[in-house]
Amino acid sequence: MHSTWMITGISRGLGRELARTLLAAGATVVGTTRTGTADLAHERLRLLPLDVTDPEATPAAVARAVELTGGLDVVVNNAGFGLLGPIEATSEAEALAILQTNLLGPWRVIAAAAPHLRGRGAGHIVNVSSIAGLAPLGGSGVYAAAKAGLSALTEALAAELAPFGVGVTSVEPGSLRTDFFSDASIRLTSAQPAAYADTVGAVVSTMTGRSGAEQGDPRKVAQLIIDAVNDPQPPRHLVIGSDALTRSRANVAALLDDIRRWESRSAATGFSA
Ligand SMILES: NC(=O)c1ccc[n+]([C@@H]2O[C@H](COP(=O)([O-])OP(=O)(O)OC[C@H]3O[C@@H](n4cnc5c(N)ncnc54)[C@H](OP(=O)(O)O)[C@@H]3O)[C@@H](O)[C@H]2O)c1
Repeated sequence: MHSTWMITGISRGLGRELARTLLAAGATVVGTTRTGTADLAHERLRLLPLDVTDPEATPAAVARAVELTGGLDVVVNNAGFGLLGPIEATSEAEALAILQTNLLGPWRVIAAAAPHLRGRGAGHIVNVSSIAGLAPLGGSGVYAAAKAGLSALTEALAAELAPFGVGVTSVEPGSLRTDFFSDASIRLTSAQPAAYADTVGAVVSTMTGRSGAEQGDPRKVAQLIIDAVNDPQPPRHLVIGSDALTRSRANVAALLDDIRRWESRSAATGFSA
């Protein structure tokens, strides 16, 4: 079993459950929070301050995590927040903020941690993406784009790190009962045009109205992530929850259907000689 984990964003939600579950199982955890504090305490828990949007603080935090533990086995990019609203109504600042945290934040952690894991010739990187990254819905398009970017980054990273013995997994959960759909993590685009009231507006109401009644249990999800990372053949994608399974299957089927329907004309677009 991998015994030394670094997890971003353990102040609450999935990150905190992952840290708790690992500590109970005997692992050592370096957890980061924006404040450097958390309502978790354990002799094998080390807390570090980190805002994942900070390009200078990130390599320093990873280096400190390595120093504190003597070596990391698993690095989990968990920190993130949500953004709901029509794509056309998303401001430059709103789009940049979500990309900074949900895509560039993990990339910074990866850039800092990969040389260490490569050097050890072992280890695993877990990127907490979302079902939105595999099967986006209208109403969370820019969030979905950041998560799709993270899922794609994970696949490419897996190819790059496999020769060094380092595994990579993209976790794509459906809805989880955390703070995510509360005001603590969901932002609404400042513009919510009336033209989208019946479409995006309805999605936003459903998603925010679900806060506290989401299907996914973060404790079970945390255990599943740990089991997947410790599996002799860890998955490239870990799609979690019956909602995520249904949505991802439907999207894969629709993609295959598009490929099949346009296959002969698509294949005929090359130079003939
Ligand atoms: N909940 C869901 O339904 C769901 C579904 C699919 C994917 N996810 C993904 O799962 C991950 C965990 O979310 P959650 O459900 O546990 O939500 P959560 O309870 O709202 O927790 C989010 C965590 O991310 C941290 N965070 C946000 N921005 C940060 C930043 N710039 N730097 C450092 N930490 C930051 C928060 O810290 P603060 O306390 O400082 O804000 C908090 O610890 C996220 O990446 C989310 O996109 C969630």
